[in-house]
Amino acid sequence: MNVKFLIVLISLIWLCKGKNCVKKSFGYSSFVCVCNSTVCDKVTPEWDLKPHQFLVYMSSRDEYRLDNFEGYFNICPGPYPGVNFNVNPFKTYQTIIGFGRAFTDATGINVMSLPEGAQENWLKSYFSSEGIQYSIGRIPMASCDFSTYPYSYDNTSGDFEMTKFSLQYEDMHYKLPLMTQAVKMLKEDGRNILFFGSPWSAPAWMKTNDDMTGYGTLKGPQGGPYYKAWAEYFVHFIREYQNRGIEVWGVTAQNEPSDGHLHDFPFQAMGWTPEQQRDFIANDLGPALEENGFGDVKIMILDDQRIFLPYWADKVLSNSTAAKYVSGIAIHWYEDPLVPVLALDSSHDMFPDKFIFGTEACIWPVRDKRDRVALGEWNRAERYARYIIQDLQHWVTGWTDWNMALDMQGGPNWVSNFVDSPIIVNKEKGEFYKQPMFYAMGHFSKFVPPGSVRVAMEAVSGEEKDLSCVTFLQEKQTLSIVCANFGDAKIDVSFKVDDDQGYIFYSLPPHSLATFRCNYIA
Ligand SMILES: *[C@@H]1O[C@H](CO)[C@@H](O)[C@H](O)[C@H]1NC(C)=O
Ligand SMILES: *[C@@H]1O[C@H](CO)[C@@H](O)[C@H](O)[C@H]1NC(C)=O
Ligand SMILES: *[C@@H]1O[C@H](CO)[C@@H](O)[C@H](O)[C@H]1NC(C)=O
Repeated sequence: MNVKFLIVLISLIWLCKGKNCVKKSFGYSSFVCVCNSTVCDKVTPEWDLKPHQFLVYMSSRDEYRLDNFEGYFNICPGPYPGVNFNVNPFKTYQTIIGFGRAFTDATGINVMSLPEGAQENWLKSYFSSEGIQYSIGRIPMASCDFSTYPYSYDNTSGDFEMTKFSLQYEDMHYKLPLMTQAVKMLKEDGRNILFFGSPWSAPAWMKTNDDMTGYGTLKGPQGGPYYKAWAEYFVHFIREYQNRGIEVWGVTAQNEPSDGHLHDFPFQAMGWTPEQQRDFIANDLGPALEENGFGDVKIMILDDQRIFLPYWADKVLSNSTAAKYVSGIAIHWYEDPLVPVLALDSSHDMFPDKFIFGTEACIWPVRDKRDRVALGEWNRAERYARYIIQDLQHWVTGWTDWNMALDMQGGPNWVSNFVDSPIIVNKEKGEFYKQPMFYAMGHFSKFVPPGSVRVAMEAVSGEEKDLSCVTFLQEKQTLSIVCANFGDAKIDVSFKVDDDQGYIFYSLPPHSLATFRCNYIA
């Protein structure tokens, strides 16, 4: 039997194990997996590991999409070729809250445009054990730019008591049905999802510019009737969702509070300074939630780019009344390449009992508008992996991506602010495309479930500028090591996990993401 034949045979065995992506190229650097009513790729479930066995889930530019392989620990003492890491599960850092994405109107509109079977496959891709098992859902409170027009939950001028507050068609037909099914699907596998709300703008009548877009803030003095009414709006939102079976775990005080300070800002926004946010939380929002039985709903501040840290956190959290009500600091990723991680580290050091949590991210090509959607572009998956790993190495407790499904041009969006999404829906063909970004998220969301704790790992020999890795311990017994190879060449890595088992030694293909799973024997 010649070697070539043997290789074919081996790859066939592996094919039968569950490699089922229907690959399609749109001319970018990699491919998408096509799903429709009858066909959709699934992640092979984990099995109970045999002694000294480990699993690797692999995605790569050229070949794999969360395909799994098995391997065995190596007892030879190192050093091994390439980069050698020692994992130290006794040195622990932050606890993970979760990974997920937003239930925007655009998401619902796109998913509902698919045939029923494809909708089911979309849900399974995100929320079932066949998929990547998201644990976080963001809810825009009323409309945002990914709506078809601007609307609020109470457009009745002067209704300070919020007696006319009501959820809208979009909540009933797009957000709640998908959220309800996501909860049900996750529950079947013993998983859970945490939902948090974020407002883009108060109703126009409450704002200085009488408009939901542009430069404007709440009317009147801090702590005045408009501020009290705005806190009441949060209470009504939480109650109305709860009445429909969706528990709200948290809220951010405002989506991107800096946007509302920009003249002619094109979509829904409302401006706040950190001092205003501090006083709103201390005087209005915190007390209103507490008085209405929602004292355990987590309040997050900032919900904007990390460039405002630690300044914003310092302004809000140095006030003990505001700090008492605040659980965390929410960040968006859009300027991550420009702002050093010191912003995260110093915020954590100043306020170690407040979590830092990623609440929005997406590929938003400002310069090249032709590539708003780039079907199959691998570089976008690498950008996710690069900044998720970086965040996780600097105290961030989770990551919330933006739209869960967009159409072929990256919408709908009522101001044409089109962006990319890990899942793109082709309504005409009744199918959807799982992009490399989808799998990049899955390397974390599926294998670093809520409650996982980041542990120390140290490169003891070797160095690679194109390699990033981060490690988590789950329920004190399972390790997830997530690595990215951003380079054009393969990179050899080894991990010493504990003295009993020895070493994981593996070769990461060029442009690949890998999640290693193994038991930790304490
Ligand atoms: C779904 O895709 C598969 C594989 O490309 C194809 O064979 C099948 O006919 C498609 N099903 C529908 C309902 O379009
Ligand atoms: C809200 O009320 C304003 C003023 O009456 C009106 O111009 C606007 O169209 C209303 N918005 C919606 C979504 O009904
Ligand atoms: C915190 O801010 C509130 C609201 O502005 C203010 O009333 C209070 O005096 C401040 N508390 C401290 C300790 O600075």
